[in-house]
Amino acid sequence: MDPNRDNPIVRFTTFWWALGAFLIFALLLAVIMLFNRKDPQTLEDAAAKPRYEIKAKVEAAQAASLPPAAIDAAIPQVAAKIAAAKPAAVEKPEQVVPGSPTAAKLAAAPPPDTSAIDAAAAAANEPIDPAVMEIGKVQFMVCAACHGQNGEGGPIAPPLAGSEWVTGPVSNLIRIQLRGLQGPIKVAGKEYNFPAPMAALAYQTDEQIAAVLTYVRNNFGNKASAVKPEQVAALRSEVGKPPLTAAELTAP
Ligand code: HEC
Repeated sequence: MDPNRDNPIVRFTTFWWALGAFLIFALLLAVIMLFNRKDPQTLEDAAAKPRYEIKAKVEAAQAASLPPAAIDAAIPQVAAKIAAAKPAAVEKPEQVVPGSPTAAKLAAAPPPDTSAIDAAAAAANEPIDPAVMEIGKVQFMVCAACHGQNGEGGPIAPPLAGSEWVTGPVSNLIRIQLRGLQGPIKVAGKEYNFPAPMAALAYQTDEQIAAVLTYVRNNFGNKASAVKPEQVAALRSEVGKPPLTAAELTAP
């Protein structure tokens, strides 16, 4: 058997030689890498360098200006402010809760001035846009459920065909869409009093409301000017108010 084989001294020196050789290679690699370093080549690399520098600076500045102790000290103050804050009343019409102070405020608001809208609509003499009629036709499916496929009316809603309201002032029609309608109403010479009101359909966009109203004004034998999305937009403040009655509308 080789006497060196299990000699502890030989094993000890071999270990140190191996470690030494390993370190020399590691050092060599480090030196090669050091001299082989390249400047950022791509624009992305060039941009990354200042980004990292700025990020480090910002983080240092933040850490310096907001020490954890200061944050801990501020928490009770913030909590006291939140506890003392009064929630702001909801003013968005579509979010108004019935019976709330905002609903009462809206109900007490004076009716909008519709004369300019109605005068402009009555004077309008442009041809009806077929694309608008197509949108109105789709939207009319909602109305058809109550007013009938051909606007002929039925047991739960008055007719739209031949209705003086439909071909009358556009502000009436827009406001009915935005607020709904309730109570007795006379349509084409006949008195109606339906048990259930027409609910507001204000979820429709200005374009959809304008299109469906243009559609009913120019279908089922009706003929009247188009309704414009701007006219609907101008009356959006009506949303959230209680349903209209025929007495609140402009006489057709
Ligand atoms: C849930 C049923 C229902 C739906 C849906 C409905 N209405 Fe009505 N509508 C009514 C009722 C009921 C009245 C009568 C309200 C009253 O009692 O004064 C009415 C009245 C009207 C009037 C005034 C009276 C008349 O006949 O000219 C117009 C205009 C009108 N609706 C248009 C529409 C349009 C346009 C749509 C679709 C976008 C529509 N309605 C959807 C039920 C409905």
